[in-house]
Amino acid sequence: MASTSASLTSEEYVEAFKVFLEHSTEHQYVPTNGEEQILQAEHPGVFVNTEIIEPNPQHVAAYKELVNQAPDLQRVSFVWHQLTSSQYEQQVMEKSTQKKFDFIHMIQMLYRVEDIPNTIKFFHSCLDHHGKLLIIILSESSGWATLWKKYRHCLPLTDSGHYVTSSDIEDILKRFGVEYQVYEFPSDWDITECFIEGDPVGGHMIDFLTGTKNFLGTAPMDLKKCLQEALCQPECSSRKDGRIILNNNLSMIVVES
Ligand SMILES: C[S@@+](CC[C@H](N)C(=O)[O-])C[C@H]1O[C@@H](n2cnc3c(N)ncnc32)[C@H](O)[C@@H]1O
Repeated sequence: MASTSASLTSEEYVEAFKVFLEHSTEHQYVPTNGEEQILQAEHPGVFVNTEIIEPNPQHVAAYKELVNQAPDLQRVSFVWHQLTSSQYEQQVMEKSTQKKFDFIHMIQMLYRVEDIPNTIKFFHSCLDHHGKLLIIILSESSGWATLWKKYRHCLPLTDSGHYVTSSDIEDILKRFGVEYQVYEFPSDWDITECFIEGDPVGGHMIDFLTGTKNFLGTAPMDLKKCLQEALCQPECSSRKDGRIILNNNLSMIVVES
């Protein structure tokens, strides 16, 4: 089913992402923006050189703000690259020497890169000996996976991202013949408001889910109904205390250098 809806701009994405975070347990297990302090505690006295690659200016600004507010980051340096991963790769390739890293993470971002296998290959090549690459991605057991695979016909065509889950990443890693371990983390997303007509929170959440601006206001009736019914299927969500909880399970994949 086609729709006339538009993709989210980066500002709209930031807003929709915030609402998603406020209603999910996504960040309960994900050490985003806090890993420098964890590393310092584990390796006291060691200098940590961090490079951040992030194309969205608002996300870069929010991260800088957190760094400015954090105490005890004297031994941590930050280099900011407001770039996509492929733009960063291009910059690295133009230099004669390639910097190596002990730890690289790609947390919930592979959906948006242009070429997933090559992005993984490139960042894996940036690891130093004994380095680790951490990929966090939606699990194949998540409701998103069912939505993307079984109920894709209920989604608008505007979402330009890849419908990728842990099993797709594992297939790529197996093809590359690299060693990795996978850890599963349960996560929930309360999507109840998505079913309340005219609810602004529900509007933002469904926009995040579909990668579409004002999905509820612009999608044809049959597409909306199809998506709302799909979201209620037991393979996607469960009911707790009258709330509708989407399965947002995550996989953490640790790749060896
Ligand atoms: C779902 S958010 C996850 C943010 C953060 N890692 C977290 O887990 O909270 C996806 C992030 O990927 C960034 N992104 C989008 N396209 C990208 C690309 N081509 N290369 C690198 N990052 C990208 C977005 O700007 C956004 O900050």
